[in-house]
Amino acid sequence: MGDGPVSDGVRVLPPNDLRQYDDLAGEWWRPDGAFAMLHWLARARAALVPPASRPDAVLVDLGCGAGLMAPHLAGKGYRHVGVDLTRSALEQAAAHGVTTLAGDATAVPLADGCADVVAAGEVLEHVPDWRAAVAEACRLLRPGGLLVLDTLNDTVLARLVAVELGERLPTVPRGIHDPRLFVDDRELVAECARHGVALRVRGVRPGLRATLGWLVRRNRGGAVREVTHDGPAIRPTWSTAVLYQGRGVRHG
Ligand SMILES: C[S@@+](CC[C@H](N)C(=O)[O-])C[C@H]1O[C@@H](n2cnc3c(N)ncnc32)[C@H](O)[C@@H]1O
Repeated sequence: MGDGPVSDGVRVLPPNDLRQYDDLAGEWWRPDGAFAMLHWLARARAALVPPASRPDAVLVDLGCGAGLMAPHLAGKGYRHVGVDLTRSALEQAAAHGVTTLAGDATAVPLADGCADVVAAGEVLEHVPDWRAAVAEACRLLRPGGLLVLDTLNDTVLARLVAVELGERLPTVPRGIHDPRLFVDDRELVAECARHGVALRVRGVRPGLRATLGWLVRRNRGGAVREVTHDGPAIRPTWSTAVLYQGRGVRHG
């Protein structure tokens, strides 16, 4: 099982250790599994992406994981290119039609301006140098290209909700976050502006009633669907203090 202490047969790794994604590889596409909330967020992120405006349009998905956006982008006309450091996740992304590239979001081996859309879903808060990942995202965008992202804010409330509470729920794996890496929304907007992208952010959260219903159904061992196009909707909320989405166009 590799290094690290073992508790209940599971090795205990430091927060944000990427080997956690290998240990959890079987969870990615389980609708009610440890990555359930990533499915809900992927659907909401994909909803920010318009249909491609030209043939051969490319969407680069930074930190694509197992390619959970893929079903929600189907029919929009993009070649979906996924970049990630976790090979076990990339294998699953490829099986879902993503063109995969093993690489670091802070040094992507793709040409300047190659992307019509760059997506960075739930990845910036895992990258020690998130500014470098933002610089790469903006570099990859062609003029007029669209950046869509979601991440966790660098606030006490986000630490409480996403880590202290969230990681006790079955929707978020325990230890997957290092809150020291969370991303201040104003700093993110400023960094994007420095790289020519006018980012607008809004707070989002899962619908509370739907999430409670989902938890109850899950705990009762209710129906688990093979493909998770449903699950609680991610809704806009008034505060960016915990989870937020960003959307911005690169200047021409
Ligand atoms: C929380 S998952 C999100 C996956 C996917 N974006 C989604 O929303 O389903 C974070 C992903 O980022 C990847 N990751 C973390 N640091 C990375 C880096 N520096 N470069 C590329 N991928 C990275 C991990 O391997 C993991 O697949």
